[in-house]
Amino acid sequence: MGPNATLPLCLFPLIFFSTAVTADNITKAFEKYSDFSTMNDLLIKTKLTVPISKYLTITLLAVNNKAISPIVNRSDVEVKNILMNHVILDYYDEIKFKGMKEKSIMFTTLYQTTGLGEEMNGFLNCTKSKGKVYFGSGVKGSPLVAEYVKELYDNPYNLSIIQISMPIVAPGLSLELFPPPPPPAPLAPPPSPTDAANAPGPEPADEDTTIPKRTTDSQEVDSPAPTPSADNEKIEAADKAMPSSPACKAGFRFRVVLLIALLVSMFGIR
Ligand SMILES: *[C@@H]1O[C@H](CO)[C@@H](O)[C@H](O)[C@H]1NC(C)=O
Ligand SMILES: *[C@@H]1O[C@H](CO)[C@@H](O)[C@H](O)[C@H]1NC(C)=O
Ligand SMILES: *[C@@H]1O[C@H](CO)[C@@H](O)[C@H](O)[C@H]1NC(C)=O
Ligand SMILES: *[C@@H]1O[C@H](CO)[C@@H](O)[C@H](O)[C@H]1NC(C)=O
Repeated sequence: MGPNATLPLCLFPLIFFSTAVTADNITKAFEKYSDFSTMNDLLIKTKLTVPISKYLTITLLAVNNKAISPIVNRSDVEVKNILMNHVILDYYDEIKFKGMKEKSIMFTTLYQTTGLGEEMNGFLNCTKSKGKVYFGSGVKGSPLVAEYVKELYDNPYNLSIIQISMPIVAPGLSLELFPPPPPPAPLAPPPSPTDAANAPGPEPADEDTTIPKRTTDSQEVDSPAPTPSADNEKIEAADKAMPSSPACKAGFRFRVVLLIALLVSMFGIR
């Protein structure tokens, strides 16, 4: 009895520690940098803080308020895609960039996890040349538009925020993407009926409020504007918009299942 009783006690600090620090709070990390408030606001607005918080190792390439202005006017979807391309799924801090050899590295970004990447546009080319570090899209022939400026924040091996001189807009990222890709595939378990049953109510309502907003954007003329009541039209729109992405179709089907489950539960009660 004795050893068995002490075992959970031994595990407790370990579990507590790991849950307390699973992920960094990027919003908090940005807090003292008012010069980066636009990027911080955009990460919150696009809800990218959620997938970012799920990764254990992230390097965010940050752009200050002045430098980010060329992208703030783009549609929500575009801004989201562009920002996802600034989230490197690896840990690179000042020490690593300074110690980097004169060569190129291809960084995988969060955008690549959506499964929508084309021609390496989910990757970033990081090249060191004459002691300076440059960044550009991973798409072949893309210019290395941004330059390493300085490190803003680091939590060793987990989260590093690096300032770069300007945003990197990869070819193809301005294409319409509807609906927005689901959060990071590697960590998200496949949708299951239990997920649908456990999902909180506000989810579908949130979808309804965000979808019409996006389709009013002039750059997305191809996408038929869904009416809030016609779920079938939404599915058709999604299928048309994303013919090459089974992941998103699956995501949409999952939402439909979720919606049906919700409706069933609502009417079941009454
Ligand atoms: C930091 O990253 C390491 C290795 O990637 C991981 O084992 C650890 O749990 C992470 N810690 C935090 C605070 O997220
Ligand atoms: C992250 O920090 C911000 C600001 O301190 C706070 O509003 C937010 O709730 C935090 N998010 C998480 C997931 O802890
Ligand atoms: C961005 O939008 C604002 C308001 O709609 C407009 O005044 C401004 O000129 C736009 N900027 C660019 C660079 O398009
Ligand atoms: C990265 O960009 C540089 C400069 O454009 C290029 O020479 C290099 O081949 C690129 N690296 C890769 C791996 O494509």
